[in-house]
Amino acid sequence: MTFNEGFLWGASTAAHQVEGNNVSSDWWAREHGHLEGAAPVETPSGDAADSFHRYPDDMRLLRDAGLDSYRFSVEWARIEPEQRFISRASIDHYRRMVDTARDLGLTPMVTLHHFTSPAWFAREGGWSDPRSVDSFARYVARLEQLLTDVELVCTINEPNMLATIMADSNREFSGIGIPPGDGPITEHLISAHQMATAIVRGWGKQAGWSVATQAFQPEPGFEDAADEWSRTREDVFLDAAAGDDWVGIQAYTRTRIGEGGPLPVADGAETTLTGWEYYPPAIEVGIRRSWERNGTPIYVTENGIATADDSRRIDYTRGALEGVERAIADGIDVRGYLHWSALDNYEWGSFTPTFGLIGWDPETFERQPKPSLAWLGEVARRGGLS
Ligand code: BGC
Repeated sequence: MTFNEGFLWGASTAAHQVEGNNVSSDWWAREHGHLEGAAPVETPSGDAADSFHRYPDDMRLLRDAGLDSYRFSVEWARIEPEQRFISRASIDHYRRMVDTARDLGLTPMVTLHHFTSPAWFAREGGWSDPRSVDSFARYVARLEQLLTDVELVCTINEPNMLATIMADSNREFSGIGIPPGDGPITEHLISAHQMATAIVRGWGKQAGWSVATQAFQPEPGFEDAADEWSRTREDVFLDAAAGDDWVGIQAYTRTRIGEGGPLPVADGAETTLTGWEYYPPAIEVGIRRSWERNGTPIYVTENGIATADDSRRIDYTRGALEGVERAIADGIDVRGYLHWSALDNYEWGSFTPTFGLIGWDPETFERQPKPSLAWLGEVARRGGLS
């Protein structure tokens, strides 16, 4: 059997995308136009999926379907809503989430930073400011009790997307024309990851960070350009995972590189609700690239598609898992597959791209599990596709 015993089968979420009312965060401030200099956001997150209150139901649905793990993030802006003011109650809240997962028999994987930061941190310049590293380490140092019974800690989600988004939206800090992987934001993120790793390893945890892999594929003649694109947007971050306990690989689609950089999706290719090309092999490409660069054990921490047609989600996921199987058969150490996402959620400015295995009623928040949840749960129970 390709998937070892102990292989994790699960689903992922991020606090800001599902909890609702993350009012002390930089994203909330952006959504409501009070973060100076930040680009406006189309739709605010509001109550999101109200998972802040409904997380026990969400976890139970995953468990009942047959999954055995849940990746979620704890929200720095709730834990430290004002600089150096730590909310005991927020730590207790996340502690209860860990306990709930454990009581249900789900292995919790806890992300410490998933795109959002406290608004005070953003006002100091966020990750472009050198103080960011110490601020983050100070926050992480307060999480020991929260992380009791958690073995897998993801320090920072998609530092490469974070750096790219900040470099694109905040040129004043990043330096015009500097590719994300070469700028100060990346230096700070890597240092913050290393400090957080040292802290949580001190508590006996296994630490890693999760990287967005983008399957950069050159058009003929653009091999060097694709390599350079990949170096600054992906490889720097994969290389920084060398020596970590594990690395999270996340992939959704591919990016063809040609004249001027990324090319639009080819005419006639199937696209998803995010406008990305339907491309199930993306995760296999990301897994192989990571393994070649760092040799670090891998968890697939995100993979999925935004679609209103759940049968395409099943088809995509089957295709992706076939790629994971091929990678394992070639000797690559892949230890789990956590689908993005457990729930339809707030896709950073819009609720339209639905990535969830579980939908919900916008008036009542009543959960509506989709056939893909039962399908993935069945794969998990069988321990593989066949
Ligand atoms: C992020 C998620 C996001 C997903 C789909 C990843 O970049 O970690 O927050 O919802 O991709 O866009």
